[in-house]
Amino acid sequence: MTYNINEKGYYGEFGGAYIPEMLYPNVEELRENYLKIMAEPEFQKEFNQLLKDYVGRPSPLYFAKRLSEKFNTKIYLKREDLNHTGAHKINNTIGQILMAKRLGKHRIIAETGAGQHGVATATVCALMGLECIVYMGEIDIARQAPNVARMKMLGATVVPALSGSRTLKDATNEAIRDWINNPVDTHYIIGSVVGPHPYPDMVARFQAVVSEEIQWQLQEHEGKTKPDYVVACVGGGSNAAGAYYHFLEDTNIKLIAVEAAGKGIHSGESAATSVLGKEGIIHGSKTLLMQTPDGQITEPYSISAGLDYPGVGPMHAHLYKSGRAQFISITDDQAMKAGLELCQLEGIIPAIESSHALAVFEQKTFLPEDVVVLSLSGRGDKDLETYINYFNL
Ligand SMILES: Cc1ncc(COP(=O)(O)O)c(C=O)c1O
Repeated sequence: MTYNINEKGYYGEFGGAYIPEMLYPNVEELRENYLKIMAEPEFQKEFNQLLKDYVGRPSPLYFAKRLSEKFNTKIYLKREDLNHTGAHKINNTIGQILMAKRLGKHRIIAETGAGQHGVATATVCALMGLECIVYMGEIDIARQAPNVARMKMLGATVVPALSGSRTLKDATNEAIRDWINNPVDTHYIIGSVVGPHPYPDMVARFQAVVSEEIQWQLQEHEGKTKPDYVVACVGGGSNAAGAYYHFLEDTNIKLIAVEAAGKGIHSGESAATSVLGKEGIIHGSKTLLMQTPDGQITEPYSISAGLDYPGVGPMHAHLYKSGRAQFISITDDQAMKAGLELCQLEGIIPAIESSHALAVFEQKTFLPEDVVVLSLSGRGDKDLETYINYFNL
């Protein structure tokens, strides 16, 4: 069994490109060209240079001593929070903006939940002088106000999505609608390992730099390239895909995916797709998604905008179904507690998405000699308002 994508664009039974006919030319153009373009030495050179000088890579692999002492295991944090714009999302947007330029596109659209991907997209559009339109659910616009302001300062137009739960799913619908109406000059920068093939694979490859670095950084710290566990939160699944990428086929390395259980898995207010999801099609790919018995998508809920999505990418559906990754669901309360704990033990304020991953240590016991690498996907600046309200600060 392979855990990577096959030549037809599937991870096991999940993936593919289930798209309206009107999107076919755009997606096909990308599918035909993405691997070729990514393999060009000039592309690689420009991508790696920007990751180094603009994003600030490599991001540190930090041994969290006090956190490790508390949970009696060896915890390393992959500090994606230290990237320019504050999260892992920029790795992908740098890659995709270079791809868009080579495909001759001069108008960029994107969807965003937490606003991190929107900011990362607005940033690379400013860098390259391209027009940028970001779709964002009305609810997310309210709870991630600092990121909305950032996008505007960077010259992007932020368009509210007013349908459904007015969160990430609805923003994605609006972006797809825009792309159908603007097929020739527009590139859609999808922000996670979701969407029709080749997006999940392309985004995973751009994020793969994360596990590439983990290998040599662990060699420096521990004298070996392989951790025992890799832990990451999963919204669509891009930070997890990046952290897992070079470890996917080595089953000695255990993968843990952390989802948002919101107010409780069975509370009716949750985004725990692995437990509640069934096979279905969302945003162009066959995957696991939360749906009613007659196939209507269930509105998700999480305190964290970046995890508030009713599906997971097809790679993660396959990792779940095959048992390759263990999925753990974390409630709002458990995540907020773990986030505050990181602040006070390590002096790092995490994004609430990353706080979900951190809550794993209260749920699962690791051995003292285990080397656990956790993807600290983003910093908490964007979430201050939510932390303030939650803790009455
Ligand atoms: C900091 C952070 N972590 C994680 C996520 C979840 O996305 P993904 O599952 O694609 O990594 C987001 C999404 O906005 C985010 O901003």
